[in-house]
Amino acid sequence: MKKVVLAYSGGLDTSVCIPLLKEHYGYDEVIAVTVDVGQPEQDLKEARVRAEKLSDSFVLVDAKQEFVHNCIFPLIKANGSYEGYVLGTAMARPLIARHVVEVARREGANALAHGCTGKGNDQLRFDAVFRTTDLEVIAPMRELSLTREEERRYAAEHGISFEHGNNNKRWSVDENMWSRSIEGSELEDPAFSPPEEVFHWTASIEEAPEEPELLQICFEGGVPVSVNGAEQDGVALIRTLNAIGGKHGIGRTDMIEDRVLGFKAREIYEHPAATILLEAHRDLEQLILTRNELRFKELVDRAWSELVYQGLVMDPLFDALNAFIDKTQERVNGTVYLKLNKGVARVVGRESPYALYSKDVSFDVKRDQRTAEGFSIYHGSQSRLAAITRGGDKR
Ligand code: ARG
Repeated sequence: MKKVVLAYSGGLDTSVCIPLLKEHYGYDEVIAVTVDVGQPEQDLKEARVRAEKLSDSFVLVDAKQEFVHNCIFPLIKANGSYEGYVLGTAMARPLIARHVVEVARREGANALAHGCTGKGNDQLRFDAVFRTTDLEVIAPMRELSLTREEERRYAAEHGISFEHGNNNKRWSVDENMWSRSIEGSELEDPAFSPPEEVFHWTASIEEAPEEPELLQICFEGGVPVSVNGAEQDGVALIRTLNAIGGKHGIGRTDMIEDRVLGFKAREIYEHPAATILLEAHRDLEQLILTRNELRFKELVDRAWSELVYQGLVMDPLFDALNAFIDKTQERVNGTVYLKLNKGVARVVGRESPYALYSKDVSFDVKRDQRTAEGFSIYHGSQSRLAAITRGGDKR
């Protein structure tokens, strides 16, 4: 009895994988595992209906709290971003993969499968976690190179239709509570301007209200704990900020992204809460951390983000970076005030008991400023000497 556990999203690729694992790969039993990281209820429902039709059993794992506490909160502390956008898809993949492995262990399966193609980053992220086991790893989409059209036909032969009732059929969408990513079809052309229909979380600038909205976010230990004075658990807080930010058109990204394999890809993202929280968190760090900490942490944050993007969160370096980041975040407590309007979340104030800001330098305080002169004399000395060596002004 050959058993395989598949990371199942309910979409076309992973749905086609189920009959392929039986007919093409000869598995007797396919267990479909969907991990809930905050994708729409409708997607989860459709996943269940399709999996119950195609597979031998369906497992739904609610990982929303885990996603927030073990992935999103560390990301906020690390200001996790890649080529200028807030990481999203990359955060969820290792978590999903780990749950699939757990089910496989419990069920005594022989193999693990995912529906990623051989072009993207997600295959690397799943593989990296799957290959920490000695189970066989199967990626039918990568191995069989089917076109979307062939997949649709094959799905139809198995009684699964993707033509109707799915208004996103043209686009490939990956969604979790933190970020929504849209790619494929006409969007692959970097010059093609995305139609409004691809956006589900964010209003266009035209639709966004004229009136700005003020927002107050409190952080403790580098993570958000309340919005406008109301304490909320992480999942609720992120949903609140997605709703408020989305209404103001905040958190849209349209970019050319360098994938791990080296291809450039056109990607579109929506992430209102992520944009707001990272703006606020970076600003608060700027008030609290020393200049030395900030400069060094920029390097650490960058290394952290690269590992996440590449799906290498099991690298011991990742733990080491997190240990450094956590240490710096012990003091990142305080409140940030933002103004949201027409696609922009602008920080308009911040305060913290750990602020390194000193009133001594206020324009309004009378203080002997001559002590600065000695510093000032030497401050530009290297540049001055360099100018002299080039035959410049001798003064
Ligand atoms: N390129 C992005 C990443 O590697 C997102 C890809 C998400 N997939 C999708 N079908 N939209 O993180």
